[in-house]
Amino acid sequence: MEIGSLDTPVATVDLDAVERNIARMQGYCDEHGLAFRPHIKTHKLPAVAHMQVRAGAVGITCQKLGEAEVMEAAGLRDILLSFPLVGAAKAERLAALAGEATVSVVGDSEHVARGLSDALAQAGAGVDFLVECDTGFGRTGVQSPEAAAELAELADGLPGLRFAGLMTYPTLPESGPWLRAAREAIEARGLRVERVSAGGTPTHLINHLVGEVTEVRAGTYVYGDRSCIANGSVPLEDCALRIRATVVSRPTPDRAILDSGSKTLTNDPAEEASGGGHGLIVEYPEARIYTLSEEHGHVDVSACSPRPDVGEVVTIVPNHACGCTNMHDEVVVHRAGHVVGTWAVAARGKLR
Ligand SMILES: Cc1ncc(COP(=O)(O)O)c(C=O)c1O
Repeated sequence: MEIGSLDTPVATVDLDAVERNIARMQGYCDEHGLAFRPHIKTHKLPAVAHMQVRAGAVGITCQKLGEAEVMEAAGLRDILLSFPLVGAAKAERLAALAGEATVSVVGDSEHVARGLSDALAQAGAGVDFLVECDTGFGRTGVQSPEAAAELAELADGLPGLRFAGLMTYPTLPESGPWLRAAREAIEARGLRVERVSAGGTPTHLINHLVGEVTEVRAGTYVYGDRSCIANGSVPLEDCALRIRATVVSRPTPDRAILDSGSKTLTNDPAEEASGGGHGLIVEYPEARIYTLSEEHGHVDVSACSPRPDVGEVVTIVPNHACGCTNMHDEVVVHRAGHVVGTWAVAARGKLR
């Protein structure tokens, strides 16, 4: 079967492109002696996580505990949870997970460390604890190297937790000096920083240059998307995740309507630098998906020649692959357009 005969809208994944992307990122990490721990939030597919580990990844990263539970059940054995786990319900689930796999967690507060420790100690389980550091992005993370050292010492003294190192997102040029100051402050307290985990696809090529980083986490690289094309991290031909959509209406000469709206593509807007709109229509690069209803994609085709007809199927590279995958129960996997399988997006919707 060819992808051309699939009903739409449908999410397709080009397995050859996935393999190229995995080989390229793993090759970069191997070349620079960096451990690679891909973030599975992009694909949410156990089969792709296994491909990444077979290619040399030391383990995987999950944002949510629910994603990690799916991956563990599918046989992934070394998991970093890169999102702060707050509350007794999650701490208990973490303790159960830690009984089945090698698990590490991040935290930027005493609250998180103590909450996890209580549940882990009760279950007789243990995890490695990485102090999350805000090295410039302005999201989660302790705000100074001294605060990182304080939390490292506290966590290391709590039952069920072992301080193992530092974590930051994304890798920025200023991350290196920040992380060095944190490592020195921690070593001054007699602790060892075994691991410094950093990452993000757009800046992945600076991980070996900034200093301190020992482990890279990238996620979006595996599929690529319109933002990756714009920032130069993945070329169009390696954008593996695409949405096939049908033109269902041509109400005016300048407007086409697709059967793919925000429930198919997500509402993630593109920066103007990458052309604006809600995705790249590969066959009509001049077209602009200027707005989305839930099930309708509104396309300005005034700059296209020729223009698409009703019934025509087009291929869309989404603005943001990770949000897009999360909209789909399954992806149709192909090589050069020949369908090789339909894979359940097993970790989609695992928000807790
Ligand atoms: C904590 C963390 N690590 C790694 C990543 C992977 O980044 P990217 O998808 O840009 O590769 C993300 C992305 O949001 C993240 O939040």
